[in-house]
Amino acid sequence: MATEEEFKALLKQTHRFLNLMYAMILITIGTMVTYVNNPDFFDLSSEQMIVEVPIPAEEDRDRIENGIHVRTGFIDAEGMYIVIANCTNCHSAKLVTQNRMTAERWNETIKWMQETQNLWDLGENQEIIVNYLVTNYPPRKAGSRRANLTEIEWYEAKD
Ligand code: HEC
Repeated sequence: MATEEEFKALLKQTHRFLNLMYAMILITIGTMVTYVNNPDFFDLSSEQMIVEVPIPAEEDRDRIENGIHVRTGFIDAEGMYIVIANCTNCHSAKLVTQNRMTAERWNETIKWMQETQNLWDLGENQEIIVNYLVTNYPPRKAGSRRANLTEIEWYEAKD
Protein backbone atom coordinates (compact mmCIF):
# COMPACT_ATOMS: atom_id res chain seq x y z
CA MET A 1 0.00 0.00 0.00
CA ALA A 2 1.37 3.44 -1.01
CA THR A 3 2.40 5.77 1.71
CA GLU A 4 0.97 9.23 2.02
CA GLU A 5 4.26 10.70 0.70
CA GLU A 6 4.08 8.58 -2.43
CA PHE A 7 0.46 9.53 -2.98
CA LYS A 8 1.28 13.27 -2.74
CA ALA A 9 4.12 12.86 -5.26
CA LEU A 10 1.77 11.09 -7.66
CA LEU A 11 -0.82 13.81 -7.28
CA LYS A 12 1.82 16.48 -8.01
CA GLN A 13 2.94 14.64 -11.14
CA THR A 14 -0.63 14.31 -12.37
CA HIS A 15 -1.23 17.97 -11.73
CA ARG A 16 1.85 18.92 -13.75
CA PHE A 17 0.80 16.66 -16.58
CA LEU A 18 -2.67 18.18 -16.68
CA ASN A 19 -1.17 21.68 -16.71
CA LEU A 20 0.99 20.71 -19.67
CA MET A 21 -1.99 19.28 -21.55
CA TYR A 22 -3.96 22.40 -20.81
CA ALA A 23 -1.18 24.62 -22.17
CA MET A 24 -0.90 22.52 -25.32
CA ILE A 25 -4.64 22.67 -25.93
CA LEU A 26 -4.52 26.46 -25.55
CA ILE A 27 -1.62 26.73 -28.03
CA THR A 28 -3.43 24.45 -30.51
CA ILE A 29 -6.64 26.45 -30.31
CA GLY A 30 -4.67 29.71 -30.63
CA THR A 31 -2.91 28.39 -33.71
CA MET A 32 -6.17 27.26 -35.28
CA VAL A 33 -7.87 30.58 -34.64
CA THR A 34 -4.90 32.46 -36.11
CA TYR A 35 -4.87 30.20 -39.16
CA VAL A 36 -8.57 30.56 -39.79
CA ASN A 37 -8.36 34.34 -39.58
CA ASN A 38 -5.14 34.76 -41.54
CA PRO A 39 -3.91 31.67 -43.43
CA ASP A 40 -0.86 33.60 -44.70
CA PHE A 41 0.44 34.01 -41.18
CA PHE A 42 2.30 30.70 -41.35
CA ASP A 43 3.51 31.08 -44.90
CA LEU A 44 7.17 31.75 -44.25
CA SER A 45 8.23 31.07 -47.82
CA SER A 46 7.20 34.43 -49.19
CA GLU A 47 7.96 37.70 -47.60
CA GLN A 48 4.71 39.45 -47.90
CA MET A 49 4.53 43.14 -48.03
CA ILE A 50 1.16 44.58 -48.63
CA VAL A 51 1.45 48.02 -50.13
CA GLU A 52 -1.79 49.84 -50.35
CA VAL A 53 -1.88 51.76 -53.59
CA PRO A 54 -4.62 54.32 -53.46
CA ILE A 55 -6.72 54.14 -56.57
CA PRO A 56 -8.14 57.58 -57.15
CA ALA A 57 -11.86 57.74 -57.58
CA GLU A 58 -13.02 58.50 -61.10
CA GLU A 59 -13.88 62.11 -60.33
CA ASP A 60 -10.46 62.51 -58.72
CA ARG A 61 -8.68 61.18 -61.81
CA ASP A 62 -10.40 63.76 -63.97
CA ARG A 63 -10.29 66.69 -61.59
CA ILE A 64 -9.97 70.05 -63.32
CA GLU A 65 -8.48 72.96 -61.42
CA ASN A 66 -8.10 76.42 -62.93
CA GLY A 67 -8.70 75.00 -66.39
CA ILE A 68 -5.98 72.38 -65.98
CA HIS A 69 -6.55 68.63 -65.88
CA VAL A 70 -4.72 67.97 -62.61
CA ARG A 71 -3.57 64.39 -63.27
CA THR A 72 -1.92 65.14 -66.62
CA GLY A 73 -1.42 68.89 -66.71
CA PHE A 74 -3.31 69.25 -69.98
CA ILE A 75 -5.32 72.38 -70.63
CA ASP A 76 -9.01 71.52 -70.31
CA ALA A 77 -10.44 72.08 -73.78
CA GLU A 78 -12.30 70.29 -76.53
CA GLY A 79 -10.62 67.01 -77.44
CA MET A 80 -8.56 66.76 -74.25
CA TYR A 81 -9.80 63.30 -73.31
CA ILE A 82 -8.99 61.94 -76.76
CA VAL A 83 -5.49 63.37 -76.38
CA ILE A 84 -5.15 61.80 -72.94
CA ALA A 85 -6.34 58.45 -74.30
CA ASN A 86 -3.84 58.49 -77.19
CA CYS A 87 -0.87 60.53 -76.09
CA THR A 88 -0.04 59.51 -72.53
CA ASN A 89 0.47 55.78 -73.00
CA CYS A 90 4.17 55.82 -73.85
CA HIS A 91 5.47 59.00 -72.33
CA SER A 92 4.27 61.55 -69.86
CA ALA A 93 1.83 64.25 -70.82
CA LYS A 94 4.60 66.70 -70.01
CA LEU A 95 6.51 65.70 -73.14
CA VAL A 96 3.46 66.83 -75.09
CA THR A 97 2.67 70.01 -73.16
CA GLN A 98 6.24 71.31 -73.14
CA ASN A 99 6.15 71.39 -76.93
CA ARG A 100 4.52 74.11 -78.97
CA MET A 101 4.11 73.66 -82.69
CA THR A 102 2.15 74.52 -85.75
CA ALA A 103 -0.48 72.03 -86.96
CA GLU A 104 1.95 70.95 -89.65
CA ARG A 105 4.69 70.16 -87.15
CA TRP A 106 2.26 68.37 -84.77
CA ASN A 107 1.25 66.21 -87.71
CA GLU A 108 4.89 65.57 -88.53
CA THR A 109 5.63 64.59 -84.94
CA ILE A 110 2.73 62.15 -85.00
CA LYS A 111 3.94 60.74 -88.29
CA TRP A 112 7.43 60.38 -86.86
CA MET A 113 6.09 58.47 -83.84
CA GLN A 114 4.04 56.26 -86.13
CA GLU A 115 7.05 55.45 -88.27
CA THR A 116 9.59 54.95 -85.50
CA GLN A 117 7.81 54.49 -82.17
CA ASN A 118 4.89 52.19 -83.00
CA LEU A 119 2.28 54.86 -82.52
CA TRP A 120 -0.97 53.52 -83.90
CA ASP A 121 -3.11 54.97 -86.67
CA LEU A 122 -5.17 57.69 -85.02
CA GLY A 123 -7.86 57.69 -87.70
CA GLU A 124 -10.45 60.42 -87.32
CA ASN A 125 -9.01 61.30 -83.93
CA GLN A 126 -5.87 62.74 -85.49
CA GLU A 127 -7.73 65.85 -86.61
CA ILE A 128 -9.30 66.29 -83.17
CA ILE A 129 -5.92 65.78 -81.50
CA VAL A 130 -4.03 68.17 -83.75
CA ASN A 131 -6.81 70.76 -83.41
CA TYR A 132 -6.56 70.50 -79.66
CA LEU A 133 -2.77 70.74 -79.74
CA VAL A 134 -2.50 73.66 -82.12
CA THR A 135 -5.25 75.55 -80.30
CA ASN A 136 -3.74 75.06 -76.86
CA TYR A 137 -0.06 74.57 -77.64
CA PRO A 138 0.67 76.77 -80.65
CA PRO A 139 4.16 78.08 -81.33
CA ARG A 140 5.01 80.98 -79.08
CA LYS A 141 4.98 84.32 -80.75
CA ALA A 142 8.41 85.84 -80.76
CA GLY A 143 8.21 88.11 -77.75
CA SER A 144 11.06 90.45 -78.62
CA ARG A 145 9.72 91.41 -81.99
CA ARG A 146 7.88 94.68 -81.97
CA ALA A 147 4.29 94.66 -83.12
CA ASN A 148 3.61 95.69 -86.70
CA LEU A 149 3.19 99.44 -87.04
CA THR A 150 -0.32 100.58 -87.73
CA GLU A 151 -1.91 103.92 -88.32
CA ILE A 152 1.14 105.55 -89.76
CA GLU A 153 0.63 108.81 -91.53
CA TRP A 154 2.63 108.45 -94.68
CA TYR A 155 3.51 111.56 -96.57
CA GLU A 156 3.89 111.84 -100.26
CA ALA A 157 7.46 111.73 -101.43
CA LYS A 158 8.11 114.66 -103.70
CA ASP A 159 10.41 114.27 -106.61
C1 HEC B 1 3.39 54.21 -79.01
C2 HEC B 1 4.02 55.10 -78.08
C3 HEC B 1 3.71 56.59 -78.21
C4 HEC B 1 2.48 57.19 -78.20
C5 HEC B 1 1.13 56.53 -78.03
C6 HEC B 1 2.73 58.59 -78.34
N1 HEC B 1 4.06 58.83 -78.40
FE1 HEC B 1 4.93 60.64 -78.47
N2 HEC B 1 6.75 59.79 -78.41
C7 HEC B 1 6.99 58.44 -78.29
C8 HEC B 1 8.41 58.22 -78.09
C9 HEC B 1 9.07 56.87 -77.87
C10 HEC B 1 9.00 59.48 -78.10
C11 HEC B 1 10.44 59.82 -77.90
C12 HEC B 1 10.61 59.96 -76.41
C13 HEC B 1 11.93 60.49 -76.04
O1 HEC B 1 12.63 61.06 -76.87
O2 HEC B 1 12.26 60.30 -74.86
C14 HEC B 1 7.94 60.45 -78.30
C15 HEC B 1 8.13 61.80 -78.35
C16 HEC B 1 7.13 62.75 -78.44
C17 HEC B 1 7.34 64.17 -78.51
C18 HEC B 1 8.67 64.88 -78.48
C19 HEC B 1 9.17 64.92 -79.89
C20 HEC B 1 10.46 65.63 -79.99
O3 HEC B 1 10.76 66.04 -81.10
O4 HEC B 1 11.15 65.77 -78.98
C21 HEC B 1 6.13 64.77 -78.59
C22 HEC B 1 5.83 66.24 -78.70
C23 HEC B 1 5.16 63.70 -78.58
N3 HEC B 1 5.79 62.48 -78.49
C24 HEC B 1 3.81 63.90 -78.68
C25 HEC B 1 2.87 62.88 -78.71
C26 HEC B 1 1.47 63.09 -78.97
C27 HEC B 1 0.81 64.42 -79.25
C28 HEC B 1 0.89 61.86 -78.91
C29 HEC B 1 -0.56 61.54 -79.15
C30 HEC B 1 -1.00 61.66 -80.50
C31 HEC B 1 1.94 60.88 -78.61
N4 HEC B 1 3.12 61.54 -78.51
C32 HEC B 1 1.71 59.53 -78.43
C33 HEC B 1 6.08 57.44 -78.30
C34 HEC B 1 4.70 57.63 -78.31
